[in-house]
Amino acid sequence: MENRSAKFLSLFVFLLISLPFSAVALLRPPMFRAEKLIRELNLFPNEPINVVDLDRDNTRHFSSGPNIVEWRVKFPNLVDPSGSSIEDLGHHAGYYHIQRSHAARMFYFFFESGNSKEDPIVIWLTGGPGCSSEMALFYENGPFTIANNLSIVRNEYGWDKVSNILYVDQPIGTGFSYSSDRRDIRHDEKGVSDDLYDFLLAFFKEHPDLATNDFYITGESYAGHYIPAFAARVHQGNKAKEGIHINLKGFAIGNGLTDPGIQYGAYADYALDMGIITQSDHDRINKVLPLCESAIKLCGTDGTISCMAAYFVCNTIFSSIIARVGDMNYYDIRKKCEGSLCYDFSNLEKFLNQRSVRNTLGVGDIEFVSCSTSVYEAMLMDWMRNLEVGIPSLLEDGIKLLVYAGEYDLICNWLGNSRWVHAMEWSGQKEFVASSEIPFEVDGSKAGLLKSHGPLSFLKVHDAGHMVPMDQPKASLEMLNRWIHGSLSERTIDSGKLVSSM
Ligand SMILES: *[C@@H]1O[C@H](CO)[C@@H](O)[C@H](O)[C@H]1NC(C)=O
Repeated sequence: MENRSAKFLSLFVFLLISLPFSAVALLRPPMFRAEKLIRELNLFPNEPINVVDLDRDNTRHFSSGPNIVEWRVKFPNLVDPSGSSIEDLGHHAGYYHIQRSHAARMFYFFFESGNSKEDPIVIWLTGGPGCSSEMALFYENGPFTIANNLSIVRNEYGWDKVSNILYVDQPIGTGFSYSSDRRDIRHDEKGVSDDLYDFLLAFFKEHPDLATNDFYITGESYAGHYIPAFAARVHQGNKAKEGIHINLKGFAIGNGLTDPGIQYGAYADYALDMGIITQSDHDRINKVLPLCESAIKLCGTDGTISCMAAYFVCNTIFSSIIARVGDMNYYDIRKKCEGSLCYDFSNLEKFLNQRSVRNTLGVGDIEFVSCSTSVYEAMLMDWMRNLEVGIPSLLEDGIKLLVYAGEYDLICNWLGNSRWVHAMEWSGQKEFVASSEIPFEVDGSKAGLLKSHGPLSFLKVHDAGHMVPMDQPKASLEMLNRWIHGSLSERTIDSGKLVSSM
């Protein structure tokens, strides 16, 4: 395989040299290129990675002892007219001492359901790779949002209304997670999924009363890689009885990158369909597609150097579209990309780096980094690998998959997602493909288009970009609630009843 890749790579270098100048100019050395892509996937980091010097550490989670240290939290600047006590809130933060590591600690938030302790456990994973799940917590589906004066305000559509929800900072080095040893940096989905699985076992050991609850994995963007890998890891652990049985019922991917071979082929088609490039742009941009596709094929599920080559070749497709559309926000083509971040999420770092907040969270001197460049770069070889391959066997065992996508996102657009979901081979493929689309209604209006068969569902979400719960908070909460209750495809649901059960 790698021998063929070496041949491929020399072909690739030859092609690079012989490509017209305009195409060559789009390729940049890895460092620069990675920084650019981090910008594209959101926040630019202040610090490259959280690798900390142990001597400096004075926080409560360093001593040897239990694998998980968890405490209750109430933010000092929470706007809380009802004056809930810290016990009433049921909000926790913690560190997990990662078992398969030299010195790594994984930070997480755990919010008890506002409805019932019996509600499912849901874990949320933000992508990047290397972006903190706190981005989703505070801007998408967490219990709070950050007001402009840096107060914390309750989010009436937080997913904690219907689930016991976990937000984890991973891979190591992301957000408040850290290590004192560079060898702990992860490079692939094996490292990522082992850490998440080990965390989950430790979490349920800490909360034995929740261990029999239903369990769902959710997330967005690059988590289109993490989620299928993590779901397969949990399923494998269950089958091999590696630890306590985890009641995995389903996994949901929002605007994800899962099957690059199909999704890179959809970029120019989507841009053309949406009228942001012309037919001649489309044809010119897609000239590199055959080369990109053969590179992805070589990369497969576990290639190395060929995956790197594929990353550089295929991303010229995306950058050519961006070069064409100018300052358009590639997470939401209806918007302008403001500044280098496309959205302004700067309040997150401002908020989390306040002394009073850090004290509440018990994170000591660890600097909060929204997106880590080093974590991103360490995962470059993983980017083009195909994560669709592990999904069919999960479906065959009755584990549900929901793929949803906001219709105005370019970077992980609905078209590419729809294509891989339709192309996936499993026993229900024919029926899924043949089943008709039905409107997904929220409060009597059409919030999306849904296609389902058996355990598989695909939802195109209207009036939303890359971050669906940010753009459509109510519809996204309805989506989660119906999906976990198996009523996603019910045409009408008594929303009065739903609200009261929240
Ligand atoms: C900050 O903003 C929130 C939401 O707009 C408001 O409820 C709160 O009273 C403000 N706090 C201060 C101290 O101004």
